[in-house]
Amino acid sequence: MNLRLQFDTSNIQWERVAEILQTVGMAYHDSATHKTAFENSYVVVFAFDEDEMIGFGRALSDGAYQAAIYDVAVLPDYQGKGIGKAIVGRILAKCPNCNFILYAAPGKEKFYEKLNFRKMKTGMALFTNAERMKQRGFTE
Ligand SMILES: CC(C)(COP(=O)(O)OP(=O)(O)OC[C@H]1O[C@@H](n2cnc3c(N)ncnc32)[C@H](O)[C@@H]1OP(=O)(O)O)[C@@H](O)C(=O)NCCC(=O)NCCS
Repeated sequence: MNLRLQFDTSNIQWERVAEILQTVGMAYHDSATHKTAFENSYVVVFAFDEDEMIGFGRALSDGAYQAAIYDVAVLPDYQGKGIGKAIVGRILAKCPNCNFILYAAPGKEKFYEKLNFRKMKTGMALFTNAERMKQRGFTE
């Protein structure tokens, strides 16, 4: 593997973003929606093996003290090789004085605990697809 990280949205194949999210079982949208979401993010990280996109992550932030991480995904063949850790680590480094929040996919909490994230006791969410998120184990 020849891992390369990219920190902007140039030359991204947005349909691949949707495909990767679908492959790993995360929520996905049409390619134009992903383009808007990543382009409007404060930090983006895309991981490539040579020219093949193999993972990504992004964060929204005020650039001062608050940030939220979304869409962290690594293709199954590349999982367990430190790529997810590298993606999140670069996101954290780009907002050095920020608090970070996120909601982990059920079963992925340990990945974030290894990166020093801790469960929140008072986290609240207002999801557009509230019933589906409840069924998937994100809310009570
Ligand atoms: C979760 C995910 C991003 C992790 O990426 P990854 O590249 O496989 O993770 P890494 O290899 O960087 O792992 C970093 C550390 O976390 C641990 N880890 C990773 N996934 C884990 C899991 N599901 N449970 C427990 N530990 C886990 C690794 O063992 C490793 O530990 P180490 O530093 O002691 O060696 C990836 O598995 C993925 O894309 N999963 C599907 C999509 C998803 O659920 N994304 C998260 C949305 S919130």
